[in-house]
Amino acid sequence: MANWTSLPEKLFSLDGHVALVTGAGSGLGKYMAHAVLHAGANVILVGRGLQRLQVAAMEMYASLRDDKPMGHDSYVEDFDQAKWDALAPELSKRLACIAWDVSKLETLPELAAQAKAIFGAPDILINAAGLNPRKPAEEVTPEIYEYTLRLNLSAPFFLAQALVPDMKAQGWGHIINFGSLQSFRAFPNGLPYGASKGGVAQLTRAMAEAWSTPGTGITANAVAPGFFKTQLTAPLFSKPEVIRALEKQTTMRRLGGCDDVQGLAIFLASHASDYITGQVIGVDGGWLAI
Ligand SMILES: NC(=O)c1ccc[n+]([C@@H]2O[C@H](COP(=O)([O-])OP(=O)(O)OC[C@H]3O[C@@H](n4cnc5c(N)ncnc54)[C@H](OP(=O)(O)O)[C@@H]3O)[C@@H](O)[C@H]2O)c1
Repeated sequence: MANWTSLPEKLFSLDGHVALVTGAGSGLGKYMAHAVLHAGANVILVGRGLQRLQVAAMEMYASLRDDKPMGHDSYVEDFDQAKWDALAPELSKRLACIAWDVSKLETLPELAAQAKAIFGAPDILINAAGLNPRKPAEEVTPEIYEYTLRLNLSAPFFLAQALVPDMKAQGWGHIINFGSLQSFRAFPNGLPYGASKGGVAQLTRAMAEAWSTPGTGITANAVAPGFFKTQLTAPLFSKPEVIRALEKQTTMRRLGGCDDVQGLAIFLASHASDYITGQVIGVDGGWLAI
């Protein structure tokens, strides 16, 4: 029995894998990173602020080591240098933080190179960084429009493009993009956001067409979250009447908690989904079903 591995372990274990997660300092990206860490991957957290990522890393590490719950957001104000210095030698065996602005597309090959130098080439990419400017169509400027598409739609492609050669060389790689309900339908004040998330659905299919070819072992899928309370949706969650209306439109009559994305994160990151590619999968409590 010494070498026996259970089927769930074979399918879902991420031991020996390396995940790069953008937008990992808060909200859904943070919970996706936490989930793949628990499944066994070494994880590189990417966001613009180093200390915020370090706070998130310490929370994830405490969750792994001591089963402590995580908060939805990570605050720079909670950063404690002495605590970091004490934890860093152990924590850095499983977690690393890279402060990077992924909207600077021409720098993404350098991000991929820096990530590779830490735990080896990432073979799981989770593209969670994103923003929603929430403006009426008449107030959307070319700058807002261009930046939203660059961050939400172009960065996931160019970061994947930088990582795919090593995924191909290793014969395996899983890419997870972030769609939205707006990949399927329009919402008020959602013009550039909706355009970018509709684009993510097609980008995901196009990535599958380009890279899920014989022998690569590469898959590309997207999650399409319903409504989750994060800094991105804070303007909605500040209005109780909006929340009640959204809950009413959800089959399960509740909005998402960030931990609701964790199962799908492990599934799409792992061998359990090796034959699934080009899909956009809702995690929305049935919002799109009715
Ligand atoms: N919450 C929802 O209900 C919902 C629904 C559908 C889809 N989504 C999608 O889920 C993803 C995560 O959003 P969230 O709701 O978890 O919101 P969030 O907490 O605001 O997360 C967005 C993350 O992106 C990072 N980020 C922003 N600009 C960046 C840049 N230029 N470079 C690197 N990182 C950057 C932010 O960190 P820094 O500011 O520190 O860089 C932040 O950690 C997004 O793609 C969003 O569209 C969310």
